[in-house]
Amino acid sequence: RIAYVNGAYVPHSEAAIHVEDRGYQFADGVYEVCEIRHGFIVDLSRHLDRLDRSLRELRIAWPMSRAALIHVIREVSRRNRVRNGLFYLQVTRGVARRDHVFPANDTPPSLVVTAKRTDATAIAKKNADGIEAITVPENRWDRVDIKSVGLLPNVLARQKAKELGAQEAIFVDTDGLVKEGAATNVWIVDGDGTLRTRPAEHGILRGITRTTLMDVAKALGLKIEEKAFSVEEMYAAREVFVTAATSICFPVVSVDGKTISNGHPGSIAQNIREAFFDIAE
Ligand code: PDD
Repeated sequence: RIAYVNGAYVPHSEAAIHVEDRGYQFADGVYEVCEIRHGFIVDLSRHLDRLDRSLRELRIAWPMSRAALIHVIREVSRRNRVRNGLFYLQVTRGVARRDHVFPANDTPPSLVVTAKRTDATAIAKKNADGIEAITVPENRWDRVDIKSVGLLPNVLARQKAKELGAQEAIFVDTDGLVKEGAATNVWIVDGDGTLRTRPAEHGILRGITRTTLMDVAKALGLKIEEKAFSVEEMYAAREVFVTAATSICFPVVSVDGKTISNGHPGSIAQNIREAFFDIAE
């Protein structure tokens, strides 16, 4: 495998970042994960628009032009022969002697791009069987709208899920309302067949899959409401599913050990998943 690190394509096993990279010391950086499907990068411009927003919010400079970055992404995908998989890109505030305040303006940001194939069989199995989730109290900072690499609470939540035999952990706010998964957005289908997900203005990441799924749902004539829902409403939902670039739309068949509906993946999640790639750009 090959990785791109600060201007060079290097063997993945030798790819390295300086010990005083601010991403390493302070999680002072942002990232994107994007799906590659049949050699085509899904929703690339939306991912790069979100990267631009994350960088601007943190006042980190673009490491290169947008066109150059697209070239690097394609080159990393090509050199790794990834036709179906994911690429990962990370931009940090660069390398500087450890000091909490920003380094000098001329410090170049660090850029890493990697790509890997995904296991189509494992994904198909999750879609067919559904996944299990748990809920956990929200304990992250209040700027989770920025796709920062500071993911320790997400790591701990996913690990807890794994130790309880589940695949996703869902953050819940102090009002008992669902926020999002450790690495997914969460949706329910309510009793009327309306799709619901939390508004993205505050407290969650505006997932690209979430945005594209809204286009898909509209094309399918489904009703959507951006309105927060409670854990109780989730337990009672007709369907629950989670979305992310890594999973598109995984059905959730149990939450906190409580069976959702009849315990089988629902038809709406399946219909959306099947229509997704016709609409994603
Ligand atoms: N995570 N919410 C959180 C906290 C996430 O980390 C992610 C994605 C999403 C979904 O966003 P999108 O649809 O743009 O992938 C929502 C990536 C995939 C990850 O950390 O691996």
